[in-house]
Amino acid sequence: MTEPVETHLKDYKRPDFNVETVELHADIFETETFVTASLGVKKSPEAADGASFLLDGRELELLSIELDGRTLTDGEYTLEGEVLTLQAPPDVFCLTTKVKIHPETNTSLEGLYLADGTFLTQCEAEGFRRITFFPDRPDVMSSYRCTVSADKEKYPVLLANGNLVDEGELPGGRHFATWEDPHKKPSYLFAMVAGDLACREDTFTTASGREVALKFHVDHQDADKCGHAIESLKKSMAWDEQTFGLEYDLDIYMVVATHSFNAGAMENKGLNVFNSKYVLAKPETATDTDFQGIEGVIGHEYFHNWTGNRVTLCNWFQLSLKEGLTVFRDQEFSSDMGSRAVKRIADVRGLRASQFPEDAGPMAHPIRPESYIEMNNFYTATVYNKGAEVIRMIHTFLGPEGFRKGMDLYVARHDGSAVACEDFVAAMEDASGVDLSRFRLWYSQAGTPTVTVTRAFDAETSRYTLTFTQKVPDTPGQANKKAMQIPVRMGLLGGNGAPIPLTLEGEASPGPLERVLSLSSALESFTFTGVEKEPVPSLFRGFSAPVNQVTDLTEAELIFLLAHDQDSFNRWDAAQQLYANTILGMVADLEKGEPLALSTDLVAAVQKTLTHPTLDKALIAQALTLPSETELGDRMAEIDVDGIHAAREFVADTLAVALKEGWRSVYEACKEDGPYCPDTQSMAKRRLKGLCLSYLSRVESPAFVMDAFASAANMTDELAALTVLAGMDAPESDEAMDRFYGAWKGDTLVLDKWFTAQSLSNRPGTLERVATLMDHPDFDIKNPNKVRALIGAFCQANPWHFHRLDGKGYDLLADTVIALNTINPSIAARMASGFNRWKRYDEKRQGLMKARLERIKGTENLANGVFEIVSKALA
Ligand code: ARG
Ligand code: ZN
Repeated sequence: MTEPVETHLKDYKRPDFNVETVELHADIFETETFVTASLGVKKSPEAADGASFLLDGRELELLSIELDGRTLTDGEYTLEGEVLTLQAPPDVFCLTTKVKIHPETNTSLEGLYLADGTFLTQCEAEGFRRITFFPDRPDVMSSYRCTVSADKEKYPVLLANGNLVDEGELPGGRHFATWEDPHKKPSYLFAMVAGDLACREDTFTTASGREVALKFHVDHQDADKCGHAIESLKKSMAWDEQTFGLEYDLDIYMVVATHSFNAGAMENKGLNVFNSKYVLAKPETATDTDFQGIEGVIGHEYFHNWTGNRVTLCNWFQLSLKEGLTVFRDQEFSSDMGSRAVKRIADVRGLRASQFPEDAGPMAHPIRPESYIEMNNFYTATVYNKGAEVIRMIHTFLGPEGFRKGMDLYVARHDGSAVACEDFVAAMEDASGVDLSRFRLWYSQAGTPTVTVTRAFDAETSRYTLTFTQKVPDTPGQANKKAMQIPVRMGLLGGNGAPIPLTLEGEASPGPLERVLSLSSALESFTFTGVEKEPVPSLFRGFSAPVNQVTDLTEAELIFLLAHDQDSFNRWDAAQQLYANTILGMVADLEKGEPLALSTDLVAAVQKTLTHPTLDKALIAQALTLPSETELGDRMAEIDVDGIHAAREFVADTLAVALKEGWRSVYEACKEDGPYCPDTQSMAKRRLKGLCLSYLSRVESPAFVMDAFASAANMTDELAALTVLAGMDAPESDEAMDRFYGAWKGDTLVLDKWFTAQSLSNRPGTLERVATLMDHPDFDIKNPNKVRALIGAFCQANPWHFHRLDGKGYDLLADTVIALNTINPSIAARMASGFNRWKRYDEKRQGLMKARLERIKGTENLANGVFEIVSKALA
């Protein structure tokens, strides 16, 4: 095996040759597909004399190659490994290659593949090279014309990017369709589809009055589940016009849904391909979370049309330029469609659960990575979600108007070109006049900064001083980092909870009630004047920076913030800190053999929140949801798996018993009649009801939960009850599983929920059940959704069972990674990262995990992506 090569940002050069036009013919047959590509190539004026033209190709059988109509002989080109080289070709020429590929056996789900009877493509990041020889890099932008042909009866629908310009019959029962995309694009945005799909249509009229045809292609049996996705698309289109003045630029927008997809969805120009999970929904089969997920992902892919497609990337190191920005845009869209605070809480929960650990582990990388072995490994929470936080901080520093001006300038300057993160920051600076020079460190430094806050109150002079110390931790390959520029949105609360004017020393009083402090050195102090009584500080409101905040706020002060903070997010966060402090304190008590007791003040604060007369029900539900075991573990130097589980269960049980009446009455009060509606209010009610049910299950009989399960009128309620039952060690648990399976066995997306409910269970024997489910006829290791639903959920979200001391959880994961290595390397690598935190555990578990990592590393024909993950973990 050849050592995998690492690609470095510092080696990046613009291409010597550009492909101006691509004429592609894909002739699809049952056991082979022929692809003919004619590339109109032009040498760049900057290229050196005698420069060669390099094309990437993976698993392609080259049948013929012609330059300007003349067949090239062996010596005129070289084909070594995955690179086809033309030495010193002319300045302008046409290269035509014909290759044979095998989508019907392609289980990697990259390039062209056959899934559930439909041929479709996934080209980002480097999948186009599995279709034809091409300089497969995002800074090569071309005009595409694509003809697809296939059997007419089996594959009546033939699609590619852009507009349909021709179609017709062919001999042998075949037909063809030709599509032309008027916009230049990089190869990663190419797509084509051949299948037998239903089409649901609608239209959208743009601000300038153009009518756009919206076409959703799904399996015939799913045709009744597109409504919400279509509505979400129309909302997205209107939102981008209103918020950023960005209008859609083609007359047709197509979406294709597939059950077999490595990621969430893909923004191919005019032809998005979606994981069916993010398209299909009706109340009986999809939960509120699914409805929200669809709105968010439909928005995300649509917003890419400007941030990603019209303005694209010059190389893959810049991925966050489109992903961080587009996640920020979809977050803002969802906030505007629903509840801003609830959306923010969900996003921060996600960031803390997956990005913070990533930033503290062996794969830690800046949002603009400096090197990669396998680009697929860098579609990470860091690039996407921390990337979005970085954009959000720019938004905070510039304000909405400044940010909008920056966006306008960014698009005006770079429309139609392939650019870098730096171009975005420069546009923001130039448009707003705000200096972002120190802020740029967020692009190059990895690791979650820790900001420690101390406070001093001087009653005599009425001065209150906050001192911030920031530390950016060392990460692999990066030590001794510089202080970053960090926005702290904050306020001070007086004795009755009212905000105190924030007048900094030397300023005219009274100052504003909320302000954004900017930290830019390791140690910084801010003194407020005219403060009569010691206030309670509310810092990092709305999670104004992706940092770990360390304060010495007491339990009483956190309870005060939970009750009074004007910032909803910080009320929630105060509760999270309370729970975390309490549970981690108990973990220490357990170790010392001391008895556990929950503070009565905390119980009273929970009670007050639960029965709060005016607070948004979704916020109540969030505030009463304990941090996950994974998140709690992340706060410990050495993760105590069993201690965390025991302490967290103790707190949940104690709250369940102490507030039994409250859970019960709120549960009853949240019951709805009337038809299901995915609006913000009803979702909030269902969320709180589900939470009450989970607390009630700790004090009520299994029959009580079974009753809730049996009477559920929509999937949100049904799954909430099923999930609770899954964790109960009672016959009702199995009975519910059987009934659910019986009811939904024809619906693959619903079965994913069934698998997950069982893999997240706290019941004894969960690991054995997960292992058995891998042999279930409805489980399919080739299907990424199934792998994530059963094994991903188990390894990432059920730490207590996954980290069993007999190492069987680790074996299950290692065996899965090794099986997936040949089937689907990119999913294999994802799964392998389940071991990334191994050094954070006790010696025994470390040894067990290390042995599994080494076993994976020793696997024959290890995919580059898996190699990258395990070798970095072991380093
Ligand atoms: N660009 C797609 C999106 O953000 C995701 C593509 C995932 N590709 C990958 N290689 N993991 O919507
Ligand atoms: Zn994206």
